[in-house]
Amino acid sequence: MSVCSVVRESFRSVNLVYGKGGVGKTTFALLSGLCLARAGRRVLIVSMDPAKHLPGYADCDCVNRTVCIQGDRLCLEQYDVEEDARRLGEEYATLLRRISARLTVFNLDNLVEVVMDAPGLEEEAYLRRLMRVYEEAERYDHVIVDMPPTGVALRIVRLPRLYTVWLDALIGVRERLAEARAMLARVAGGDYSDPVLEKLRALRSRYHRVYEEVRSNSTTLHIGVATPEPLPVQEVEMVARTLSALGAGLGLAVLNRVLPDELAEELRVVEQQRVARSRLGGVAEVLVEVPYLGRPTKSLADVEELLRLAG
Ligand SMILES: Nc1ncnc2c1ncn2[C@@H]1O[C@H](COP(=O)(O)OP(=O)(O)O)[C@@H](O)[C@H]1O
Ligand SMILES: [Mg+2]
Repeated sequence: MSVCSVVRESFRSVNLVYGKGGVGKTTFALLSGLCLARAGRRVLIVSMDPAKHLPGYADCDCVNRTVCIQGDRLCLEQYDVEEDARRLGEEYATLLRRISARLTVFNLDNLVEVVMDAPGLEEEAYLRRLMRVYEEAERYDHVIVDMPPTGVALRIVRLPRLYTVWLDALIGVRERLAEARAMLARVAGGDYSDPVLEKLRALRSRYHRVYEEVRSNSTTLHIGVATPEPLPVQEVEMVARTLSALGAGLGLAVLNRVLPDELAEELRVVEQQRVARSRLGGVAEVLVEVPYLGRPTKSLADVEELLRLAG
């Protein structure tokens, strides 16, 4: 089966592309986006790859904004996490200033700077962008997310579960407090509802929703891309293991930059390609192969040529 027909058959509403840097995640996101757009579907590609190659490949001014091409069927956005993480840091700093106004243990002047260096700020920004992807998915047939480097990508898909557990504990504490207050209010002949508790419950339900969606086989397709070398293949295997611990699975593996038999023999990489094929096939439901173009794919025209080669 051709790459395009596999893409058209297996892609779901949200499609997350993982893989080691340089294996062809952004290229495959574009290739599959083009396949789907040509079949008349409306597609959004969000690249969270900090290498930020999408604007160059697609020649679009699409950093933190959506630009649509191909008769508006293929929309592109390069997400810039730094800008968002800074904004998030400022939000937290304002909050901290408010709640610690009477505390002298904090040096307020340094607060913003310190918060900017807080671990996890970028992950939180990525997660919020991913949550927006699930909201935007209603307006497109498919959203393709070119994920950040594997370590970060796996943390952001796991974060909603952690947040849900934390929020459950917080909600428990707050519920006991609210119950006591409600009892006092009843004694005084009134009633009491806790606005904080409502906020916590709303937050929990948002994180729980994305947790369920990331695990849902009918909403999300997880895709691992590798070139035929051992390390990129190992990284896809690790993605598959992490997803399976989360109750999800790798729906599609892409073996990119595959050389034709003759050339592979000449370069003595036949065995390496065979091993990569078999290992990737072992961890994903479906495996597709994308040939090597013979030169780096640098533009949309190159990706279109790759598409003709891949069928
Ligand atoms: N099938 C292919 N044939 C030729 N060059 C490719 C192919 N896939 C990717 N490349 C090239 O490999 C490099 C890395 O691809 P890219 O999609 O940017 O990787 P990633 O997004 O995983 O970092 C780029 O120079 C790209 O043009
Ligand atoms: Mg990339």
